Amino acid sequence: YTIKKAEFICCAAWESQWPAGDEPEFIMAGRSNVGKSSFINTITHTEGLAKVSSTPGKTRTLNFFNVNDELRLVDVPGYGYAKVPPKIIAQFGEMFETYVTKRKNLRALILLVDYRHPPKDDDLTMYDYAKYYKIPVIVVATKEDKLKRNDLKKNEKIIKDDLGFDEEHDVFIRFSSLKKVGVEQVWEEILKLCH
Ligand code: GTP
Ligand code: MG
Repeated sequence: YTIKKAEFICCAAWESQWPAGDEPEFIMAGRSNVGKSSFINTITHTEGLAKVSSTPGKTRTLNFFNVNDELRLVDVPGYGYAKVPPKIIAQFGEMFETYVTKRKNLRALILLVDYRHPPKDDDLTMYDYAKYYKIPVIVVATKEDKLKRNDLKKNEKIIKDDLGFDEEHDVFIRFSSLKKVGVEQVWEEILKLCH
């Protein structure tokens, strides 16, 4: 997939701020620091497009990015970061839930999990949540570059077993922003869901 254009559209705290148009959208989800923003920059080959955080928990809005005037990627704040006040977590939860349940443009949830570790409870909750609403999930296992070869298969199995991974509907992609692993496969799956 050739990136001709990748640009920030807007950030939205409320439904009224969601961008107009019917381009297919793909929303990220994942713990803080798992690599959501890096993922957007890597697959669009655009360094600095999404803010890679030195301080987790700073983003409080949905951030929309236009790719080739064809589709959109939506960056979100990460969950599981202890220093975010409960009120902010609740606000974000509401914003995310409104988006997931109402947004007609949504084609899939891109759930990023750290390839090195078993998924955490909030990852399991997020996966179940998407399954409940029958939203396709692309599970992206990040920081693949930090694994030993021997652990690739082993950790994939642990992550899938813990999630109760749905092989029939969902896909699992080994990914590294550092080594650019999995980029083509990500686009293949995104484009399939656009049509
Ligand atoms: P929040 O916005 O706080 O939720 O974090 P995030 O999920 O957007 O993570 P972000 O992309 O900001 O990356 C967090 C840190 O992980 C940064 O220091 C990145 O450089 C690093 N990182 C992201 N992806 C990879 C990867 O594939 N490999 C390695 N080694 N480091 C990565
Ligand atoms: Mg981020």
